[in-house]
Amino acid sequence: MVAPVTKAVIPAAGLGTRFLPATKAQPKEMLPVIDKPAIQYVVEEAVRAGIDDICIVTSSSKRSLEDHFDRNFELEHLLTSKGKDREKDDVVALAELADFHYVRQGEPLGLGHAVATARRHIGDSPFVVLLGDEFMAEGSGLLEGMIATHQEHGCSVLALMEVEGDEIARYGSADSEAFGDRLVKVNGVVEKPKPAEAPSNLAVMGRYVFTPQIFEHIARLTPGAGGELQLTDAIGTLLAEQQVLGFTFSEGRYDTGVVLDYLKVIVEMAAARPDIGPEFSAFLKDFVAKV
Ligand code: UTP
Repeated sequence: MVAPVTKAVIPAAGLGTRFLPATKAQPKEMLPVIDKPAIQYVVEEAVRAGIDDICIVTSSSKRSLEDHFDRNFELEHLLTSKGKDREKDDVVALAELADFHYVRQGEPLGLGHAVATARRHIGDSPFVVLLGDEFMAEGSGLLEGMIATHQEHGCSVLALMEVEGDEIARYGSADSEAFGDRLVKVNGVVEKPKPAEAPSNLAVMGRYVFTPQIFEHIARLTPGAGGELQLTDAIGTLLAEQQVLGFTFSEGRYDTGVVLDYLKVIVEMAAARPDIGPEFSAFLKDFVAKV
């Protein structure tokens, strides 16, 4: 019987250099996507998939992350006194989304290193990793599907999406073979390959289900692409010991980690919102006609 997956690690300790100066004194993961910080969508995605224990990897100047998922009695009192009950309920509900835990990554040595800081908290259970600056559309079912795959096969599962042309150089590229409906068997992964050297254009996206054995492989890592301790390299050696499956998907991913993608996410999501969408879309039509 495979243990249920109830714990998530959300690495959010990176420097966010592609967003400077916005990220000088605040985390990239707290940048607003309309009226919620990006990481709130990530947490809500995890909760929808049955996760109730969330360990966020933070660093210095990331205090606002902890405050966001905590109670704020002064604000709650103020909202009550102004009759803003719905807003008050919303801020209280945030702290009750899950059990939140925080670990610090003293130095941003890479994604593999960030995940390793949560080892003691995770212990000997399977867990998911969700990158703190990208999230899936509600109803995508990606994480639910990955967890169900883990339950069925008992192995680690990576989210894989086909990308176009040279874009693969931004991601891990998977060498894989067909396995079943939406599933592939992963034979290898190369982090940020030169497009000509990429084994495929199937890119590893920021969602993973891991067996706890991944920690032993991270512990043996040496610096890889960009001089960082790469999670992808630990997956590479885990493969020699255990089967790893890829769960493929093609839409519903919102990446807020780079400025241009962040802007696209906001426009797409704002246009789809029932409250502001119609007016925003009308504005967009006018605007596009002028440019
Ligand atoms: P990114 O590479 O997108 O984030 O990592 P970054 O390093 O902050 O961005 P740039 O390149 O400087 O602009 C994906 C996620 O992993 C976290 C980041 O916070 C982000 O949410 N991360 C990355 C860590 O927690 N620790 C690290 O050492 C690296």
